[in-house]
Amino acid sequence: MRYVLLIASVAALGGLLFGYDTGVISGAILFINKDFALSTRETEFTISVVLLGCILGAAFSGYVADRLGRRSTLLVAGVLFFVGALVSAFSVSEPVLLAGRFVVGVGIGFSSVVAPLYISEVAPANIRGALVSLYQFAITIGILAAYIVDYVLAADGAWRWMLGYGVVPAIVLLAGMTFLPESPRFRFKIGRDERAIKDLHHIYNDLVAEAEEVRSIRESLSLPRAGLVAFKAPALRTALFIGVSLAVLQQVTGINAVIYYGPQIFQMAGISSATNSIFSESLVGTVNCLMTLVAIFFVDRIGRKPLLYIGLAGMFAALMCLGIAFMQPHPAGMLGAIALFSMMVYVGSFAFSLGPIVWILISEIFPLPVRGLGMSLSTLANWVGNFLVAQFFLTMIEVLGRPGTFFVYAALCIVTVAFVRAMVPETKRELLERVRVT
Ligand code: BGC
Repeated sequence: MRYVLLIASVAALGGLLFGYDTGVISGAILFINKDFALSTRETEFTISVVLLGCILGAAFSGYVADRLGRRSTLLVAGVLFFVGALVSAFSVSEPVLLAGRFVVGVGIGFSSVVAPLYISEVAPANIRGALVSLYQFAITIGILAAYIVDYVLAADGAWRWMLGYGVVPAIVLLAGMTFLPESPRFRFKIGRDERAIKDLHHIYNDLVAEAEEVRSIRESLSLPRAGLVAFKAPALRTALFIGVSLAVLQQVTGINAVIYYGPQIFQMAGISSATNSIFSESLVGTVNCLMTLVAIFFVDRIGRKPLLYIGLAGMFAALMCLGIAFMQPHPAGMLGAIALFSMMVYVGSFAFSLGPIVWILISEIFPLPVRGLGMSLSTLANWVGNFLVAQFFLTMIEVLGRPGTFFVYAALCIVTVAFVRAMVPETKRELLERVRVT
C-alpha cells in the first residue's frame, strides 16, 4: 500500500505542475502586460499560448507513452516543465516568453495524459479511483499554490518569480521519477513479463488477486492491432466516443471560466477591489482543493456514476443561482455574496465529480493495446474544450449577457447527466482490463 501510494504521489506531481502552470498566469499577466507593453490581443495570446502547447503535448503523448513507456514520458514532461519555466522566468522579450510558456504547455499536455494513465496502471482495482483522484487533488493544490504565490508576490510585481517557481515541483518530479518503476502493464506490453510480475507482486500482497490481474492483462494484450485503425472496431469506437465526450463536457460546463476568470466575475458582481476579488478566488481555490477529498474517500465506495449525478446537480443549481442573481438589481454587497457562495458550491461540486471522475474514466475505458492513444485523444479534446472556453468566455458574456452565459453552462450540466446515464459504465472496483464499455 505504501509503495503504491508513493508511486501515485510522485506521478501526481505532474498534476501539481498542471495546476500551478495553468493557474499562475492569471496574476502574472497583470505585470507582464506592463513590462512588455502588450496590446489586448497579445495579452490574450500570452494567456492562451500554454493551452496550445497542451494540445500539442496531449496529441503526441499517447504515441510516446505507448512506445517509450509511461515513466520515460513523465520524465520528458519533467524536463519540459523545468526548461519552460526557466525560459519564461528569464525571458528578455515577449516572443521568448511565449516560447517558454509554449514549452511548459507541451509538458502539461504530456503529463495530463500520462500521469493518470500511469497511476491507474499501477493501482490495485479497489483503490484505483482514489489514487487517480489524488492526481486531481494535486491539480487543485497546484492551482491554489499559484493563487497564493501570485498574491504574495503581487506587491513587488515579481512575475518572473511567479513563473520561475514552477522549477521547484519540476525538480521534485524528475528526482522522484528516476526512482520509480515503469508501469507493469507497459512491461507486459513490451514482453518484459518476468519483471512485470515482480512489480505486480509489490503491489498485490494477495497471490490470487495478482494471478487474476496477470491473466486479464495477458488476455487484453492478445487483442488485435493497436493504432488509430483499431478504433474502427465498434467497442473501441464507443470507448473513444465516451472518452472524448466526457473530456469535452468537463470543460464546456464552464469550470475554467471560474478558474481563470474568477476575479473578473467577482468584479462584475461588485467586489471591485483587486485584492478582495483575488482573495475571494483563493477561497474558491481552497474549496476546490478540499472537496476533492470527498472523491478520494467515496469514489471507490459509492461509485463513479452516483458521485457524478450528485456533483452535476450541485453545479447546475449553483450556475442557475448565479445566472438568476445577475438578472436583477441587488442591495450593495448582496450580489457579491451570492456570487461567492454560488461559485464555491459550483467548484465544490465539480471537485468531487466531473473533475476527478473524468480523468478516472478516461484512464479506465480503453483496453491496454490502445490505452495511451485513447487517453491521448480524449485529453486532446479536453484541452481543445479548455482553450475554447478560455478564449470565448468574455465574448459569451458580451453576446449572451451574464445570466445567459451561466444558463448555457447550466444547460450543459443537464446534457452531461443525460450522457452519463445513457453511455457511461460503472467501473468501481472492476479490474482494469475487465472494464467494458458496451
Ligand atoms: C480540469 C481542469 C481544471 C481543474 C480545476 C481539472 O480536472 O481538467 O481544466 O482547471 O480540474 O480543478
